[in-house]
Amino acid sequence: MTDDQWFKSAVVYQVYPRSFQDSDGDGIGDVPGVISRLDYLQQLGIDVLWLSPIYTSPQDDNGYDISDYQDIDPVFGTLADVDELVAQAHTRGIRIVMDLVVNHTSDEHAWFVDARSGPESAKRDWYWWRPPRDGMEAGAPGAEPTNWGSAFSGPAWTLDEASGEYYLHLFSRKQPDLNWENAAVREAVYAMMRRWLERGVDGFRMDVINFISKDPALPDYPVSPSRAPYAEPGQVSCGPRIHEFLQEMHRAVFAGRDALLTVGEMPGVTIEEARLFTDPERAEVDMVFQFEHVDIDHGDGKWDVRPLQLTALKASFGRWQAGLAERGWNSLYWNNHDQPRVVSRFGDDGEHRVHSAKMLGTVLHLHRGTPYVYEGEELGMTNAPFAAIEDFRDIESLNHYAAAIAAGQDQDHVLGALRTMGRDNARTPMQWDGSAHAGFTTGTPWIAVNPNHAEINVEAARADPDSVLHHYRRLIELRHTEPVVAHGDFEMRMADDEHVYAFVRRLGDVALFVLGNFTGAEAAAGEAAEWADAELLLGNYDAPQDHGTLRPWETRVYRRDG
Ligand code: GLC
Repeated sequence: MTDDQWFKSAVVYQVYPRSFQDSDGDGIGDVPGVISRLDYLQQLGIDVLWLSPIYTSPQDDNGYDISDYQDIDPVFGTLADVDELVAQAHTRGIRIVMDLVVNHTSDEHAWFVDARSGPESAKRDWYWWRPPRDGMEAGAPGAEPTNWGSAFSGPAWTLDEASGEYYLHLFSRKQPDLNWENAAVREAVYAMMRRWLERGVDGFRMDVINFISKDPALPDYPVSPSRAPYAEPGQVSCGPRIHEFLQEMHRAVFAGRDALLTVGEMPGVTIEEARLFTDPERAEVDMVFQFEHVDIDHGDGKWDVRPLQLTALKASFGRWQAGLAERGWNSLYWNNHDQPRVVSRFGDDGEHRVHSAKMLGTVLHLHRGTPYVYEGEELGMTNAPFAAIEDFRDIESLNHYAAAIAAGQDQDHVLGALRTMGRDNARTPMQWDGSAHAGFTTGTPWIAVNPNHAEINVEAARADPDSVLHHYRRLIELRHTEPVVAHGDFEMRMADDEHVYAFVRRLGDVALFVLGNFTGAEAAAGEAAEWADAELLLGNYDAPQDHGTLRPWETRVYRRDG
């Protein structure tokens, strides 16, 4: 293995700075807060820390709307704080990965302010401006240049009254899309990225990066029922120049630099595309975030929540494992700042919370790929008991609620979907201890702390050798110490079983057999009896009497050598 493949045995931890640790009592987490928790992360054993955006931002989408790429938002600290974070992390052997949000800027970014000043602006073409649809009046219903919907409800175009033209925003109207067809845009972005690398950061998580290339003809797409009369914005992804742009970025920014990590967030990406994006010989990105497994319980859109079908989940993971086995590389995740908490989603956040959180972590981390741990996942943090719409903060949830209620949907039904799938579930503050605001802040938190922090918190988990936290520590250690975890091949077992997840990993003479019971009842453990004489490397119960039966939410990792 060459050194530039170091990330295959690495584990990444994601911090959502707004919710991790507040240091100054304003109720919002910040960079000094992250620095103060680096020892915790070092003890957990992670290799890389990815920070969601901390750049200057009006915070319309919690920092995914950037108004200055070169500076830090005062709410999060200063550039000096970031330098300190990088230095302190490096001392602990932790690399820092920044979020890179360059599909769009904030509408308050100087580039857009200039572009909006009028059609003569030198920056006008840095964004997507279009007249109304042929034969229609600007502002008339349906006059938008295309039928594209915004990911945050409504149309993806907003009319600029002054010029009578519309600008494109696949996300909120405060997040105008950059025009990557314009070479000056690309050069400005690459220069900005180089400056961050020169500052000492170790790579980028690239936000919705497969959206940067759009079909320049801007065609209408089929209307998706959940967004009618609009088309799902994801259809715009992976335009004709996407590989060209990423290869150009690689040459301009990453070539000749070692030991970086690049991961492209790519909604809707297929396995075939992902193989191209992550084939090292093509020099694009190290890995992508795909969405198939986290869209698996969506019906007609994310708010149409369906029960998990385990066979479908296994089929999806199995396809990705096979598809990227020879070329390319997987990322592995259950959680991030956009997803509900996995223990509430695919596990049991009540009686079997601890068993099911450990089982989910084990199954994920034992796959082939680089695992990502989202803050609090290592504690088995759960979804939050949001009582009313006033408890939510996320623009996606608030806009959906307004649109759904205006369309006459039942309020309880809409709130139920927000409680299950809403992104705020991931964004409640990190639970450090059992005190008033969980040790997150001395002030009033920007979003309520989950009341279950009284039991679920770092302090309690540290003291309990059977905690989810210690289990995650062991999982991370296993990836570092067992080459088969990082480099072994993957073979799905029991593909047709609705209850049990099972697979084998192999490298040379070493084989692992991994089992996870996805139910709260006992389940038949397939071929596990044949592994009874093998070493039980990891589990979430005492050693079994009966190897052929799994207890509720039980996981086991058997290891055989030779
Ligand atoms: C990505 C981010 C999400 C954000 C969106 C727009 O999906 O993960 O949080 O809202 O892009 O930047």
